[in-house]
Amino acid sequence: MIPSLGYAVLLIIGSFVLNLVVSKIRFNRKYKFPNVVPGWPIIGNMLDVPYPAGMWGVDMAKKYGEMFTLNIGGRRLVYLNSSRVVTELLEKRAAIYSSRPYRPMMSEIMSGGARIVLMGYTDKWRNQRKIMHSILNGKQSEKKFDDELLNFILGYTGTLGEYQFNPLKSPADVFTWLSRLPKPLQWWRPFGEKFCETHVAMFQKEYNILLDKMNKGIAKPCFAVDVLHGAAKKEFEISDVEKIYTWTSLIEAGSDTTRVAVLQMIAGAACYPGWARKARDLIDEVCGQNAERLPNLADRSRLPYISAVVKETLRWRPFLQSGVPHTLTQDDEYEGYKFPAGTEFSWNAYSIALNDKEYSDPLRFEPERFMNDDLKLPAKGHCRRICVGLNVGANNIWIAAACILYCFDIEQDPEHPIDQFNTLWEEPTKPPFKVRFTPRSQAHIDLIEREGNIALATDY
Ligand code: HEM
Repeated sequence: MIPSLGYAVLLIIGSFVLNLVVSKIRFNRKYKFPNVVPGWPIIGNMLDVPYPAGMWGVDMAKKYGEMFTLNIGGRRLVYLNSSRVVTELLEKRAAIYSSRPYRPMMSEIMSGGARIVLMGYTDKWRNQRKIMHSILNGKQSEKKFDDELLNFILGYTGTLGEYQFNPLKSPADVFTWLSRLPKPLQWWRPFGEKFCETHVAMFQKEYNILLDKMNKGIAKPCFAVDVLHGAAKKEFEISDVEKIYTWTSLIEAGSDTTRVAVLQMIAGAACYPGWARKARDLIDEVCGQNAERLPNLADRSRLPYISAVVKETLRWRPFLQSGVPHTLTQDDEYEGYKFPAGTEFSWNAYSIALNDKEYSDPLRFEPERFMNDDLKLPAKGHCRRICVGLNVGANNIWIAAACILYCFDIEQDPEHPIDQFNTLWEEPTKPPFKVRFTPRSQAHIDLIEREGNIALATDY
């Protein structure tokens, strides 16, 4: 009896292993990935990807060429290392290359399944995109955005970033089968649930205040009001939790990106002052040399160089250093490779930005490289599942860059040189680098104070 039970168990294990081997052989015959990087059994290359991954990505691209493939705990992740392959796959074939990887911890537990940046191509995603698009790409994109939630949101974007880009931080997002363990065994779950609860409570509080103002007819025009009006339309029937995530996702995705971009521009001005002097001379021609007025968005057509500054700011040291993974939704072939549905793709942002075949003298901050026909397309070359807030983002950087360059001298502090390769500025309350920031003249100080007082007295 016992021996036959033993044989039966052996048989089951044997057929399981055989099945695995046969499936693997079939998979390998059917599909072909570019430059597969050797890894460990089961975990694959999970321990190979550092955080942040920018310079690692540069070295890997030098070693493996235009594309290479990692195995992250069984998931295939293909890095695209030239703008040629990024354009061919993520842009021209965007219809099938734009979903998102399944992330049970980040997307479901930490975000209640309602945070757009983590969603696959679903109806939920489409609804939120439509609402956001209608708000951000109309006249609103030229208005000011402000909000009490900002500090709260800036305080946790670093945590989201780490979960997004560091495979070691979130095992359940790498080995997604772990999410099928009984809940008490999911050691990561309490943190995720607490994270989500705290956020929903905070968002809900702000949401109720806003609803109350809207009901009393005293809500000032702002994008949060537009989100709620948009979400109230019949064609966008979404839950209350989704409504508040739609609204707060805009602040989340739009604030820290803009903060880091403006810092990046300041670092670029301190390290390569030549372009900043040129920009200021051009602004002087439009706004006057004696602090007559601050530049504004209506000056854009007369200041194309500042638009080139915005593009160069986003190129110089991309702060989403190794891109944001996209998921392929159906099998596809490209230049002899065969990718199964579910393969993940990321654009290797650092390696593209710092490659001298893509940009001459790429380490320099040089807005001149963008003084061409693409100038009016701020996202070209920088965003893929196209950033829904790119017009707002580009306008915000534009106005910040123009005003800062007009009013301040920016210099490196020789005692504290700026680390140009560190763009992981996750603590918004701490200065990320030292720089000498001097008002240009008393007239400029007066102008800043006048404008500052008007801004402070404005009730949003
Ligand atoms: C410097 C400014 C900005 C940069 C560099 C930037 C960059 C990006 C990138 C790289 C993505 C991911 C694209 C992809 O997956 O292929 C993204 C998505 C997104 N961005 Fe931006 N962004 C900026 C400003 C903004 C602003 C101001 C807003 C809103 C007001 C915004 C809202 C969003 C949203 C909601 C998504 C998610 C879209 C989706 O997953 O469908 N962004 N952004």
